Amino acid sequence: MGCDVQAVQKVAREAAIAAGKILLEGYTREIKISYKGDIDLVTEVDWASEKEIIRHIRQSFPDHSILGEEGGIVSGAGNGRWIIDPLDGTTNYTHHFPFFAISIGFESEGEVLYGLVYDPLRDQVFEAHREGGATLNRVPLSVSRTTSLSKSLLVTGFSSSKPDDPERDNLPFFNRLSRRVQGIRRTGSAALDLCYVGMGAVDGFWEIGLAPWDTAAGGLIVREAGGRTSDRKNARHELTSSMIVASNGHIHEEIITVLGEISD
Ligand code: IPD
Ligand code: CA
Ligand code: CA
Repeated sequence: MGCDVQAVQKVAREAAIAAGKILLEGYTREIKISYKGDIDLVTEVDWASEKEIIRHIRQSFPDHSILGEEGGIVSGAGNGRWIIDPLDGTTNYTHHFPFFAISIGFESEGEVLYGLVYDPLRDQVFEAHREGGATLNRVPLSVSRTTSLSKSLLVTGFSSSKPDDPERDNLPFFNRLSRRVQGIRRTGSAALDLCYVGMGAVDGFWEIGLAPWDTAAGGLIVREAGGRTSDRKNARHELTSSMIVASNGHIHEEIITVLGEISD
């Protein structure tokens, strides 16, 4: 049976706005912070946000599956899976660096059909429907027109889980690309980085070791804004791929070529 993506969108929007209130409320007070790894943080706000999003989903779609970063895993018999990052940018959040978001993706039969990323501080809702375009606060979005890597601004991230894993070492890639572009930013929220590719504020993004909840919604937003996503070898980016490369499309091959200069 097909999925009612309009109904999915309605629930995702309501859940994101409710979770956004939780993030904003926690931002102004002292919160409990714990460690998932040496530098990987989780707060009571991550948990509360995830719980709220799952509550909304379960009310409307009790048979859907859910993959939430903070352990909210539900295995349902229905045709649909929600992929949630309840607070993308936790390190920023705990330091009061104002750049974090909520990411909600919806997948059915192996395809992400809908994605939403909500930045509650700026009240910006990024959304995309598969083959239906991408929007920011309901206004259509499109990627930048930059056609060469040498004129590009890129953004990247450094994995907070397993930072010592050599497989996740982004510095060789950073080092190589930084000599070929106008600039590279590191913002601390992969979901928003992808949205910024979608809105044309940056021309490309790459990161190693991201999880499905980081890229499900943002990846669709890039593609639906006219950009491209791939893995490091320019094959289709899967939610489990070890690297994501996202760009406006024009500079994609050039990024892949430079990344290819670093051995596996
Ligand atoms: C992190 C952010 C960051 C990225 C890390 C992610 P979290 O997500 O997206 O930008 O560089 O790899 O883990 O832990 O704040 O949800
Ligand atoms: Ca994340
Ligand atoms: Ca998170």
